[in-house]
Amino acid sequence: MDSADVESDLVNILFTEEQIHEKLAEMAKQIEADYDGQDLLMVGVLRGAVMVMADLARALNRHVEMDWMAVSSYGSGTKSSGVVRILKDLDTDISGRHVLVVDEIIDTGLTLSWLVSNLSSRNPASVAIATLLRKPEAQAMPVSVKYVGWDIPNEFVVGYGLDYQERYRNLRSIHTLAPHVYS
Ligand code: PRP
Repeated sequence: MDSADVESDLVNILFTEEQIHEKLAEMAKQIEADYDGQDLLMVGVLRGAVMVMADLARALNRHVEMDWMAVSSYGSGTKSSGVVRILKDLDTDISGRHVLVVDEIIDTGLTLSWLVSNLSSRNPASVAIATLLRKPEAQAMPVSVKYVGWDIPNEFVVGYGLDYQERYRNLRSIHTLAPHVYS
């Protein structure tokens, strides 16, 4: 696949690399203020959150620790069940720690609502969520999201960590995927 093939799969740029970095810089300023004087452990949700985690952490002008979790819905197409299993757990004991879960997108909200309740049972000082994107369905979820980059419509988006069948994660900007790719 060459670059022309990739471009024909994309309808338009939703957010450019520059817009993403500006948004994460704003988010970082807010996080610096909110966690002033407190320790902070950022937990990235593999695999899509890798880019957001890398750029958000580097935008923070303070000490921060990073750890990672990998989770998966049971079976295929059963995301709506809300049942999640842990593929890779934290290496860190979060008891008494301030935890900020970092993800690139919240779609139904089920994954992060499960994750927050799982992490909350480990006696952290606090658990909060930062996501770059949020889709409409998640806004109806009881899970509260402390930091949201953008609320987006229910479109298929790829790039900057977001994949379709594991492709497009490495794009620098966020794009809408052309329907011919998935239909
Ligand atoms: C995405 C995203 C969230 C989850 C959100 O991960 O990173 O973790 O889906 O969906 P939800 O709000 O409907 O639960 P995905 O399962 O696609 O895995 P990936 O990060 O490896 O791409």
